[in-house]
Amino acid sequence: MPSSRYLARDAVRLVAERLGAPQRDSYSLLELGPGTGIFTEHILPNIRHGDHFDVVELNSYFYKILHRKFRFNGDICLHHADFLKFQPDRTYDFVISSLPYEQMPSAITLKMWRHKLALCKPGAHIIYYKYVNFNHFRSRFEKQLVREYCSDEKIVFLNMPPARLFTLTIDDPQECLAVLEQDAKASNGKFISWKARNGKSGGGKGVNGSIIKENAGNGKPANGKPGSKKARTGRVKNGSRLNGF
Ligand SMILES: C[S@@+](CC[C@H](N)C(=O)[O-])C[C@H]1O[C@@H](n2cnc3c(N)ncnc32)[C@H](O)[C@@H]1O
Repeated sequence: MPSSRYLARDAVRLVAERLGAPQRDSYSLLELGPGTGIFTEHILPNIRHGDHFDVVELNSYFYKILHRKFRFNGDICLHHADFLKFQPDRTYDFVISSLPYEQMPSAITLKMWRHKLALCKPGAHIIYYKYVNFNHFRSRFEKQLVREYCSDEKIVFLNMPPARLFTLTIDDPQECLAVLEQDAKASNGKFISWKARNGKSGGGKGVNGSIIKENAGNGKPANGKPGSKKARTGRVKNGSRLNGF
């Protein structure tokens, strides 16, 4: 089922804010798994001369739809490819992903995250979503990444099914990759347990009324490792206060 325009609008909100600024540098954007291209349609009006926008879709049926829709649009570079084999000669300011991690083995999800992070510029934003009726995180390393790097989280009810939208801010991609490897090693590629998934939870309001979650508020993630600066201070980059996880 294609994503709703409400989910697309919220997913692209930060992109529209940054790319819509009157005075700005050029940006590079990467969209992964666009499906029928609803996010793409919302991103495109924000692209200006000097920006670069790559879109990578694996499925031939969806690629044909995308090609039909956007073939005359000079602002977009469409790639019919498996993201894991996509080797661009650039890094990105924004990575907007609809890749269905819940339908992939944990080992593939890990490869996707490695590749995504390797393609991030310092300060890049990764925007992605999960359907709320699926278990929240299938892989421990992914949960940990979101815990450490999520700068905004929002549930979009007007989507079928409703979706939980995350924005991760990656100031230092190398550090983030190291966190990923550490957590992947610790979890040994296993799926996250029911207990870990459904353990302590709570939430609070972030920017624009969005919901932000983090750990128990003791400055330590659930695995007892020292918390990130964000976890220790209880603050995210935009200054919104994080409440108990
Ligand atoms: C949940 S759907 C995207 C839905 C999209 N937001 C829409 O409204 O149509 C996930 C998409 O990811 C694509 N995909 C899955 N694995 C991929 C891969 N390895 N590389 C690129 N695209 C992939 C699928 O073909 C599918 O189009």
